[in-house]
Amino acid sequence: MDAATMTKPAVLILLGPPGAGKGTQARMLEEKFGLVQLSTGDLLRAAVAASTEAGKAAKAVMEAGKLVSDEIVVNILRDRLAQPDCARGVILDGFPRTTVQAGALDALLAESGQGINAAINLEVDDAAMVTRISGRFTCGDCGEGYHDTFKAPVVAGTCDKCGSTNMKRRADDNAETVASRLVAYHEQTAPLIAYYKARDVLKSIDAMGDIDTIAADLAAIVKQATA
Ligand code: AP5
Repeated sequence: MDAATMTKPAVLILLGPPGAGKGTQARMLEEKFGLVQLSTGDLLRAAVAASTEAGKAAKAVMEAGKLVSDEIVVNILRDRLAQPDCARGVILDGFPRTTVQAGALDALLAESGQGINAAINLEVDDAAMVTRISGRFTCGDCGEGYHDTFKAPVVAGTCDKCGSTNMKRRADDNAETVASRLVAYHEQTAPLIAYYKARDVLKSIDAMGDIDTIAADLAAIVKQATA
């Protein structure tokens, strides 16, 4: 089913530690189902680049691999969710990350009579995440994500999607910051697995395989959860 035939806008959440493949898979789901990917990491990086008040407050926290305050993140997400394109349905990538954020999301969705179709947990081994993150780069023009080993562009240095040669690496993609991000994930975000299990919307998939196999598994879950 595509977004046009869904009765209520779908709300899907991707859970998983840094490097689990949330962004990679969210972009594929966006293309396949016509949904909108909402990455709070991308929204925060845009705020940092634009030097907004929220961006100034978030910059050092992100560089340290810690979580930005719930207040800032919920405000950013609320503004983005209110934009018209989100009526197509959304894939939340990197939000919520605390039980406070999860409660705020429930309240926001309740205002428009919406609920969560599925919270999908990407199960991975922490040890592999440093390799995934340290090889990551992204097209600075269209945002397509790549990996030195696991998802290299067809022509080295050139984006498969838009032809740009403006490739970027993230400032927080170093071993030390990844270690902090993994600690933050286990302490503050992993409890959301139980949170969504208790609400009967949790789905889990093995996310240690290849990108296309995981995409197929995810697509089957999304089809079922939005039917
Ligand atoms: P954010 O941007 O959300 O980063 P993250 O959660 O740390 O996740 P990543 O983007 O690192 O990983 P991913 O799961 O998307 O993996 P990807 O698909 O790129 O957050 C950054 C910071 O912002 C946070 O640390 C925090 O400070 C702040 N923040 C954001 N949201 C917040 C919130 N809600 N509350 C508070 N603070 C917040 O894949 C990684 C690499 O692996 C890529 O190169 C990819 O090509 C490759 N890859 C993907 N899948 C596979 C596979 N199956 N096999 C092999 N390689 C693969």
